[in-house]
Amino acid sequence: MKEPDDINQNIFFSLIDGLILVSPSLSILHSNLAIEDMFHKSRDAIANRPLEELFPRQPQILDKVEKVLETGACYHDVEAKGERKTASVEFPVNLTLSPYLESDDSIQGAIILVKNMSLIRELEQRQRPADHLNNLGTLAMGLAHEIRNPLGGIRGSAQLLRHDIKNKSHREYLDVVISEVDRIDQLVKRMMDLAKPADIKLKETNIHKVLEEILILEKETFRLKNIRFQQTYDPSLPHIEADEDQLKQVFLNLIKNAIEASRNGGTLQIVTRVSSSFAIKTPIASVPRQNIAVEIMDSGEGMDEETQKKLFTPFHTTKSKGSGLGLAISLKVVEDHHGKIKITSEKGLGTTVQVFLPIRQR
Ligand SMILES: Nc1ncnc2c1ncn2[C@@H]1O[C@H](COP(=O)(O)OP(=O)(O)OP(=O)(O)O)[C@@H](O)[C@H]1O
Ligand SMILES: [Mg+2]
Repeated sequence: MKEPDDINQNIFFSLIDGLILVSPSLSILHSNLAIEDMFHKSRDAIANRPLEELFPRQPQILDKVEKVLETGACYHDVEAKGERKTASVEFPVNLTLSPYLESDDSIQGAIILVKNMSLIRELEQRQRPADHLNNLGTLAMGLAHEIRNPLGGIRGSAQLLRHDIKNKSHREYLDVVISEVDRIDQLVKRMMDLAKPADIKLKETNIHKVLEEILILEKETFRLKNIRFQQTYDPSLPHIEADEDQLKQVFLNLIKNAIEASRNGGTLQIVTRVSSSFAIKTPIASVPRQNIAVEIMDSGEGMDEETQKKLFTPFHTTKSKGSGLGLAISLKVVEDHHGKIKITSEKGLGTTVQVFLPIRQR
């Protein structure tokens, strides 16, 4: 085992952060190799020089060092600027100041731990472009809006032309124009839904009524695909505080997905219940809130793990005519309502989607 002095010496020189021992007259007594590296000055060159040479024009730092020397106070996280030999080259540092005590506890100097923050600051700067992403979102919203305007014109003109054209196959071409325009319009509209900030209009909502209104729309598809449909509704289910129109979007997306995944003759089951297994805690209400759960179970094709992982990623779709926005939008709406969506699936067997929504929003 080495002598403690050797060990201390080694620690002093091995530290990757800079270490400076300052005398009561604010000159540099000792410094380590990291200080040489950081300030591009040899230890000999700075020995016995005023501390101010390393941190020029920063009286607040010298004040703090004096405080340490007088009172034994410590300071953490002191931001400062180091200056290299080639003056005018400054770099950010973070200082920790502590008193240097002798064995009799008398203050003999101050120890300054110097952390070079150049890389960290640079990384922070590099992350800034993320801000641009928000701007990009705004740009995309603006663009989406501008795309929809001329689409209206294209659609209207195509419809007028279609009216006047006698040739049947030419009319069919125009039908394609109209339906494709509608598809772009829908896509752009949904993209805007996904990008816009939460804007929910709360009112007492009967979730059974929401479900019924959607199921009426899908009735024909059930019949065509020969899908057996089961409802297991809890008649005592309380009303919830929610934006009815937005929830309609959610359940329409989920029921459409279930139908699209179902084979001919499959079953689709919708269950509603009060959920006791899941509680939401918020900073305002620390008591668990009661939720309702709506479960949509299909006996369709299910999903492999890869698809399950990417379920909520916008534009991820396995369907030739899908946009991959349905679940992303549904999740956004449910989260805007402080709820959750849970999806379990087994390839070849079917999928269960559970939507949890708090009964009260506040
Ligand atoms: N009930 C389900 N059964 C099997 N796969 C599903 C089910 N729900 C979603 N998926 C899978 O998740 C993908 C993403 O679904 P999502 O609703 O977000 O988009 P989409 O249905 O492909 O397109 P869109 O809803 O925009 O028309 C689907 O393409 C499908 O692979
Ligand atoms: Mg979908």
